[in-house]
Amino acid sequence: KNAEYRRLWSEDDVQNTLPTRKRSSHKGTYGKGLVIGGSLNMTGAVVMTAKAALKSGAGLLTMAIPNDIYSVVATYFPEVMYYPCLSKDGYFSGEIDINQYDVKAIAVGPGIGRKDQIKKIVEAALDLPVPVVIDADALYFWKDYDSIIKDRKEATIVTPHPGEMARMIDASIHEIESNRFKISKQFAMEYGCYLVLKGPFTIVTTADGKQYVNTTGNPGLAKGGSGDVLTGMILSFIMQHENLRDAINNAVYIHGKAADHLIKNGHSEMDILATDVIEALPETLNHLY
Ligand code: APR
Ligand code: MG
Repeated sequence: KNAEYRRLWSEDDVQNTLPTRKRSSHKGTYGKGLVIGGSLNMTGAVVMTAKAALKSGAGLLTMAIPNDIYSVVATYFPEVMYYPCLSKDGYFSGEIDINQYDVKAIAVGPGIGRKDQIKKIVEAALDLPVPVVIDADALYFWKDYDSIIKDRKEATIVTPHPGEMARMIDASIHEIESNRFKISKQFAMEYGCYLVLKGPFTIVTTADGKQYVNTTGNPGLAKGGSGDVLTGMILSFIMQHENLRDAINNAVYIHGKAADHLIKNGHSEMDILATDVIEALPETLNHLY
């Protein structure tokens, strides 16, 4: 339909768009973020998402988690507020009331699991008039809320890896991987969302079909948890940037760059853990400012 718009997102782009924190800012300046996720056998995912959000600038963060994992998760952060939700067998029961929180942006999905009642949790998030990042198992029931997504007025940011993408559109992973640009563009324009199709050379596509390719990162990121870290960074960057395209691209760039810094500093692609990527954020951010 419209002309192809496709380019790399460069370090210059990052430096030109990364917001500086105003001297006059206070904890509420960038709003409240909400992370929704977790289940009994995946407690780490939301922990990594929340930590990545905190370490990349989120001023205020609430974690909505099933009550069954509250006592484990809450030991990690003195900085976070908690909304322990009713649990059922270690998962969210489906009952949630997030209207009570005055949130600016939401990330839903890390470690949330694949129980039917999870749909209600995702729908509750999509109901709020704020940007929502949908990741991991929140994408598992994609087809159940695809019409809600088309109707949303606020931004939806969808962050699948190729396997998740394949399931969402009933294609094979091979089909996805051999048509990454075309499929991404079609999807983002059909749903009117931002699509972050992950992998080496992650592609960010905007709702109007513009595409940005990331060149940072290395196979040290091919580990469980790397995606959860990215989701936290996207959430906090959305809270701090004026422009969503910039926020998403900068998060993707810096996430990969942090992994690249680890290699420069004596790590190997084998030993890098997702939590190491979070630990590399100070140096990575410092280098960019
Ligand atoms: N080079 C550069 N970047 C890479 C590479 C690579 N070789 N491999 C992975 N990455 C980056 C991706 O671009 C992405 O940002 O690491 C991140 C991996 O994200 P995910 O695939 O979501 O990985 P992970 O966090 O482990 O999520 C796996 O997702 O499918 C669900 O439930 C499943 O728990 C599992 C989770
Ligand atoms: Mg993932």
